[in-house]
Amino acid sequence: MALFGRKKNSGEVGFKTLPEHIGIIMDGNGRWAKKRGLPRTAGHKEGAETFRRITRACVNLGIKYVTFYAFSTENWKRSPDEINAIMNLFKDYLLEAKRDFEKAEDTRLIFIGEREGIRADILELMDEAEERTADHKGTTVYLAINYGGRQEIVSAVNKLIKEGKEKVSEDDISGNIFTVPDCDLIIRPSGEQRLSNFLLWQAAYSEFWYSDVLWPDFTENDLYSALKAFENRNRRFGG
Ligand code: FPP
Repeated sequence: MALFGRKKNSGEVGFKTLPEHIGIIMDGNGRWAKKRGLPRTAGHKEGAETFRRITRACVNLGIKYVTFYAFSTENWKRSPDEINAIMNLFKDYLLEAKRDFEKAEDTRLIFIGEREGIRADILELMDEAEERTADHKGTTVYLAINYGGRQEIVSAVNKLIKEGKEKVSEDDISGNIFTVPDCDLIIRPSGEQRLSNFLLWQAAYSEFWYSDVLWPDFTENDLYSALKAFENRNRRFGG
């Protein structure tokens, strides 16, 4: 099946209002595998399939931006085997995406996070994916790899210091972090209710939606439940 789907409009899918930007913390792969007596890497493999399915669902819904938290700066503490398995899953996805760019219609891929530390073969595919989809104007899929929200802010401040700034404004920070828009809805499956260093700056006014479902079991219907809940939230942005 093609990686990317066909855009529908929100009326067609029955939502009164949709978030412009959804952030998704893909959690629970390890527990999913453990429950089945499988190695953790089997959970990540299944989690990568869920990622493909949910990306397609977001594209079909016409979501403008979706950010997936795939690998945090803290995830380097895991065993080399597990890290390598996750990196190989990225590579498989990027190779598959590469075959699909022409069919990707207007889906754009952008990677956020520190590039340092990521294998050269993967970096090359990441650069190619960003270049080949740069003028796609539909759903933008941000993949957070080697990403940490605090590091993102610190590095923005350091850039500003280097430029000679003595005092920084919100706009200065916003203009120097990864160019990800403010996040409207954060989805976290697997029963944990924390942000884990994800989109700290962009989540200032995010709505949160949690579920006990482990990421490999997360379906389009879970996404729709989150969107239904979002539809009924009363967002006041502090006003
Ligand atoms: C968190 O679950 C998951 C990760 C740290 C890795 C997420 C990676 C994927 C879903 C595969 C990514 C592949 C592509 C193509 C984007 P956990 O391992 O911490 O689960 P646990 O809390 O149950 O142990």
